Amino acid sequence: EKGGHKHFMHKEIHEQPRALADTLRGRFSEDEGDTLVGEVDLDRRTLETVRRITILACGTSWHAGLVGKQLIERLARIPVEVDLASEFRYREPVVDGSVLALAISQSGETIDTLAALREAKRLGARTMAVCNVLGSAIAREADDVLYTHAGPEIGVASTKAFTTQLTALALLAIRLGRLTGHLDAEAGRRWLAALRELPTKVEKALEGEAKVVEVAHAILQARDVLFLGRGPQAPVALEGALKLKEISYIHAEGYAAGEMKHGPIALIETDLPVVVIATKDATYEKTIGNIEEVRARGGKVVAIVTEGDTHVRSIADHVIEVPDCVPLLMPVVTSIPLQLLAYHVADLRGTDVDQPRNLAKSVTVE
Ligand code: F6R
Repeated sequence: EKGGHKHFMHKEIHEQPRALADTLRGRFSEDEGDTLVGEVDLDRRTLETVRRITILACGTSWHAGLVGKQLIERLARIPVEVDLASEFRYREPVVDGSVLALAISQSGETIDTLAALREAKRLGARTMAVCNVLGSAIAREADDVLYTHAGPEIGVASTKAFTTQLTALALLAIRLGRLTGHLDAEAGRRWLAALRELPTKVEKALEGEAKVVEVAHAILQARDVLFLGRGPQAPVALEGALKLKEISYIHAEGYAAGEMKHGPIALIETDLPVVVIATKDATYEKTIGNIEEVRARGGKVVAIVTEGDTHVRSIADHVIEVPDCVPLLMPVVTSIPLQLLAYHVADLRGTDVDQPRNLAKSVTVE
């Protein structure tokens, strides 16, 4: 059932090219430069009533929401806030009929996310869900559902669910952008072309596994690991840290790199491994500045870079290359080495990768 893989998590990491293709299948409207998310009943009239989108999610799905915010704001210019579902209900949220509440949940059963969605609905919001499990509680509760089609995810640590969530959110952002008119057909077609290449790019990123195993050996004994990224990569840094801590039990922190000097830089001492996502985008130079700050304090830099990058290679201790793509879709690609890193560190440390201590696949208690 693990198809020759040692763990479900490893199998699921490698299933991502197929899972992403399934998320995208049949959802392109080439002529219109638009996406077909037919199950989501959104038209221009409905959208005119939406002033704000509130994303509700927990854990890894919340990280997907943080990227989703950047996608939707950029492509559709609709303001988006991202709430931890477990916090939402307890602060009298400002929600009314002008809000679209968007729940993101792999299982569709997370009680906090379900309760937050219900609360938003009670306050008059229109509701939508991005779910993986068909007919799950959250999928049934929402007015509309956009399924991720990742297939069953058995490993407790979310992998293919996350990258398919990012992909589904990109499909949604394109649709919203076409509806608000912020995205024209031509630009829409460029996005579709970028999405179409994602499965192949992920395939290529997976080919870098041997290099990731080397890095895993190098950080195996670490007590703490820091993850840094900017812009669309800031949530990926949070996700990389979560993945590592939940299955390897190594303490890890993820930070938006620009926040480093506001506190976490105090943690950097000789040999602390710092994983920096330094792919080529608008913040590349700034991220290089962070790498230099880490190096100056003796930290060990593991950099995730765009294929062919030579500059970061000359200053980092370890470099893992990934293929280039549009910056806002790049989180799908950079997540791959971070998932593999967490996996191999945990496997080398001999933890129960698919069933980490204290965790459950779906959290149905508050
Ligand atoms: C981490 C992980 C959890 C889930 C969270 C929400 O790898 O899997 O953080 O993302 O419990 O679960 P869903 O998406 O099922 O609502």
